[in-house]
Amino acid sequence: MKRISLEEQLRRMERDWDERARQNARYWVATCKQDWTDEEFFESGRRTVAEQILNDMINICQGKAPPEMRVLEIGCGAGRVTRALAEVFGEVYGVDVSGEMIRRAREACRGFANVHLYKNNGMDLSVLPPVEFDFAFSSIVFQHIPNKAIIENYVREVHRVLRPGALFKFQVQGDPTVETSPEDTWLGVPFTDEEAVAMAERCGFEARYRHGAGTQYFWLWYFKRAPAGPGAGR
Ligand SMILES: C[S@@+](CC[C@H](N)C(=O)[O-])C[C@H]1O[C@@H](n2cnc3c(N)ncnc32)[C@H](O)[C@@H]1O
Repeated sequence: MKRISLEEQLRRMERDWDERARQNARYWVATCKQDWTDEEFFESGRRTVAEQILNDMINICQGKAPPEMRVLEIGCGAGRVTRALAEVFGEVYGVDVSGEMIRRAREACRGFANVHLYKNNGMDLSVLPPVEFDFAFSSIVFQHIPNKAIIENYVREVHRVLRPGALFKFQVQGDPTVETSPEDTWLGVPFTDEEAVAMAERCGFEARYRHGAGTQYFWLWYFKRAPAGPGAGR
């Protein structure tokens, strides 16, 4: 298999997603439709929030009121889900490797003063201001990343910015028959259930729930472990 450097992989992700955004951003974000209207596109984001977030508020809010919560979305694309998150939560931060996607997300979220969007480098959260998050989310993003080290780096970064006990809920590719290559920016690397648990442990999370192992939509609930107190281990 051809080997390419991490820098080259990140360059390709940015280049390919910028190109997809220029071509037809909404189609490449959600390929079930070529010609999304604003209304349909934003409604599909609300559906994602209803299916993945509103029915899981005990794990996500942990007693906090949603308007008092600061949440992070990784791979916010053209703002489809970001906008719906902003209708529920107090503050929403989104990052994406593609500046062209971010431009469209800003347009989609115009009028939402609680949305903050950043183009990042495709592997970390250094672009964010020093704030703490109550919840982090990522859907149909890691399924496009061809390198497990990049995904794990995001997990470590989310651990850095989340408050202890908070949830990172995200989806990865779980279908073991998917074949990716280092240059591919469409088909991401698949994870087994064991790999998902081991990655959580290495990064300071508990992979408390998993759903959809073996399928494209392998959802993970990673809870940030609280730091051990002075009396821990006695
Ligand atoms: C299929 S779209 C989904 C967008 C959004 N999550 C949604 O559900 O509407 C995938 C998005 O992930 C972004 N992306 C791909 N690789 C990324 C990376 N390494 N870091 C950050 N964003 C990435 C792409 O630019 C694109 O906007």
